[in-house]
Amino acid sequence: MQTRINEIGDGIYRLSTFVPDIAPPAGFTFNQFLITGEEPLLFHTGLRKMFPLVRSAVSRILPPERLRWIAFGHYEADECGAMNEWLAVAPQAQVAHGQTGCLVSLNDMADRAPRVLQNGETIDIGNRKRVRYIDTPHTPHGWDAGVLFEEESGTLLCGDLFTQLGDGPALTDRDIVGPAIAAEDIFRYSSLNPGMGTTIRELAKLAPRTLALMHGPSFAGNGAAALRALADDYDRRVGTALTDSGFVAHDQTIAA
Ligand SMILES: [Fe+2]
Ligand SMILES: [Fe+2]
Repeated sequence: MQTRINEIGDGIYRLSTFVPDIAPPAGFTFNQFLITGEEPLLFHTGLRKMFPLVRSAVSRILPPERLRWIAFGHYEADECGAMNEWLAVAPQAQVAHGQTGCLVSLNDMADRAPRVLQNGETIDIGNRKRVRYIDTPHTPHGWDAGVLFEEESGTLLCGDLFTQLGDGPALTDRDIVGPAIAAEDIFRYSSLNPGMGTTIRELAKLAPRTLALMHGPSFAGNGAAALRALADDYDRRVGTALTDSGFVAHDQTIAA
């Protein structure tokens, strides 16, 4: 395995490792994003067993011991499995996550105390980069789920949202909603809940110009339209699930 590095925005690097054995024959990618500045931030640590690979990739951009912030969408191995390995190599590094994630997992699991981010709180990375933390509970999964929005570039680090199979380009302007719907049909990785359409439409209000997918290419274009289309699909799924379960009668209309 190897990790490819692409600069998808000014000072924003995508580190991508393709694993052909997951969901063959298409395979699956794991991406981390490094935002450079006086206080560099890594979004997703990579799996614990991928740490040597990801550390080596980071070291081609900056000395790993310079990392200041370690952030991720939710507590899960591909999001934060190497969290403590990073804390060990970067003495100034601190995990930053929302209140729920810190309370439920990170206050105990992180080797150093995490910084607790309020919903909407920002971290100034330097180099004109500022990331805003946004709670997205149970969307697409995990009570502690959240995303980061880099305000200067309009980049939404959207974690598992829009997950797709395959090894696409680093950056695309092609449709990412269709492949995400196909992957949801296969993996069923999302915690379908009545609030998720609303949660995703709130992210659309940020009008992101780039969507940085954890599992898929980064998307350059109308991020709001893609998010609204994804929200519509989740509303459809939730509606179908409620109808199929008998909770909502077939002849009742479910408001979107
Ligand atoms: Fe996940
Ligand atoms: Fe993930």
